[in-house]
Amino acid sequence: MRLLTVCGFICMAVSTVVGYQCYDNGTADAVSQQLADFRRRHPRPIGVWTKLTGDPIDIRDIVSLNTDIFNNKHHFLLMSHFDRERIPERVVHAKGIGAFGYYEVTNDVSKYISADVFNGIGKRTPIVGRFSTASQNLGGTDLRREFKGVSLKFYTRQGNLDLICLNIPILMKDPIDFLSFAHASRRNPQTSIFDNTMRWDFTTLRPQFLQIFLWLNSDLGIPDGYRKMNTFPVHTYEVYNKHGETFYVKFNFRTEIGLFNLTSAQALAIGADDPDYYNRDLYNAIAAGDYPAWRLEMDILTKDDLTRIDYDPFDLTRQWKRGTYRTVTAGRLVFNRHVDNNFKDAEQTAFNPDNLVPGIVGPPDAVFKARRIFYLDTQNYRLGVNHVNSRINAPLYDRNYNRDGMPPVRNNMKDAPNYYPNSFNGPMPYVDEARPTERLFIMENAAVDLQPMSEFYNTVVDTDAHRQRMADNLAASLEGVSQDIEKKALKLLTLVDIDLGTRVTQALKVAKAAAMIPLRERYNRRAQCLSMS
Ligand code: HEM
Ligand SMILES: *[C@@H]1O[C@H](CO)[C@@H](O)[C@H](O)[C@H]1NC(C)=O
Ligand SMILES: *[C@@H]1O[C@H](CO)[C@@H](O)[C@H](O)[C@H]1NC(C)=O
Repeated sequence: MRLLTVCGFICMAVSTVVGYQCYDNGTADAVSQQLADFRRRHPRPIGVWTKLTGDPIDIRDIVSLNTDIFNNKHHFLLMSHFDRERIPERVVHAKGIGAFGYYEVTNDVSKYISADVFNGIGKRTPIVGRFSTASQNLGGTDLRREFKGVSLKFYTRQGNLDLICLNIPILMKDPIDFLSFAHASRRNPQTSIFDNTMRWDFTTLRPQFLQIFLWLNSDLGIPDGYRKMNTFPVHTYEVYNKHGETFYVKFNFRTEIGLFNLTSAQALAIGADDPDYYNRDLYNAIAAGDYPAWRLEMDILTKDDLTRIDYDPFDLTRQWKRGTYRTVTAGRLVFNRHVDNNFKDAEQTAFNPDNLVPGIVGPPDAVFKARRIFYLDTQNYRLGVNHVNSRINAPLYDRNYNRDGMPPVRNNMKDAPNYYPNSFNGPMPYVDEARPTERLFIMENAAVDLQPMSEFYNTVVDTDAHRQRMADNLAASLEGVSQDIEKKALKLLTLVDIDLGTRVTQALKVAKAAAMIPLRERYNRRAQCLSMS
């Protein structure tokens, strides 16, 4: 490692880059080898090229020049399909990569949860996962400070269970703020560029969102790839055992390889060269047999605990207090296979938090209630009303009374009755005797509490150097933000912790001095730094 003090303060940002290579050895990695691998597996062409309708393509039809192009069905089919090959990208988490894997039960948790997927030591359930970054459009960079997602679809014997996770264990309170949170975190509608003024304006007007910003600007904000972060469904799930006893559970997936993070400077250098760094890392690791794996831990509260604790365990903006709950290990999540095709197996996948199975009633908070509606809504728009019929979304078993709609319809339940009740042996409901008759209904407190934020700053961010990195990151995000909003932001940060406010104020002075240098010159200096390291 070489410190690049020659470049002055502009280069402080990149001075910690370790062993940066201008040209990486592309021939060495599995991503670059994908096509060569295909050819190795298929030493001859895989068949005769056909039109979409199956008729073989004559070699005279693959040329259009000097022919009657309107008489060339091949040319027409080729292009009319191409003209329609885009579907809407996800409104959030648009950029992602899929992988297949399994969940294996390693510990007996039957005392708490009756769901088949979590019972029977050694049982393996197949999974499709999708790893994503939150605010990028398709084709964006993996290396920005934003949430990373891990979506899991368990194909269980009782239906599909989807656990949709983020790398940060806290979120928000009022679901109606989600649209503004998402908009403010993304591109400005006029400039089409990510806009810190929008972000800080919204955050200072809705300070409950500051906590997310604090986590994202800490070392945890840019993990060193999807494999090296923990991931959490965040909500507290109401679950029950086979005797009908209720428990409240947080599922936590803890990475087996350990937590590794990138500094802003490292992310800057990597992102300039390889915006697909996370996807590449995941793909290469699976190719190398270095399977990404997480241990599933369940944090558990009983019904009695609820009457004893002095905090709201369903509040997504706070973590459970240490010492008030027990933790048990449940199993292991492993990804061991690439998707067959990223569009088929990741883009078309519809992860929906409302996909739950017997044994899991679901979380009672308002954010979850909203998600129960809006994921399906967006997927019906993005993929169509029959998206559950794509092979990737279809459960292992289903029998229903729905019919028709835009394709795909699969077998459309063939000749079975299409109404219920009927006297002709159509599918019948079952009785889950353990399912609790009462559901928890909670009232939620809208007050903003800065305490979890100061606790975060004083516990998770546990060293002086870490606090300084965090302050530098926050200062960078404030550079260029309009004066009135900057003032409010600094005040808010000071309310969280005086030390934080002071550090950011200081760091912002440095950032602003750097910002006085014209943009082109700044980038020239940055390029110089990179080439020297
Ligand atoms: C009010 C709260 C929320 C709303 C309205 C919301 C909405 C959405 C929508 C509309 C999508 C796109 C889905 C698609 O097109 O298939 C999405 C994706 C996603 N959301 Fe949320 N979300 C909320 C909260 C959360 C929470 C609490 C988490 C995690 C604990 C989360 C994690 C994710 C992830 C990981 C994805 C990507 C899913 C995929 O890989 O397909 N979101 N969200
Ligand atoms: C690049 O990778 C190939 C294949 O692994 C290896 O043989 C070669 O030595 C590497 N070259 C460099 C410069 O690292
Ligand atoms: C990454 O950051 C987290 C949170 O500060 C820390 O617990 C972890 O040890 C860091 N990883 C490394 C390799 O430093």
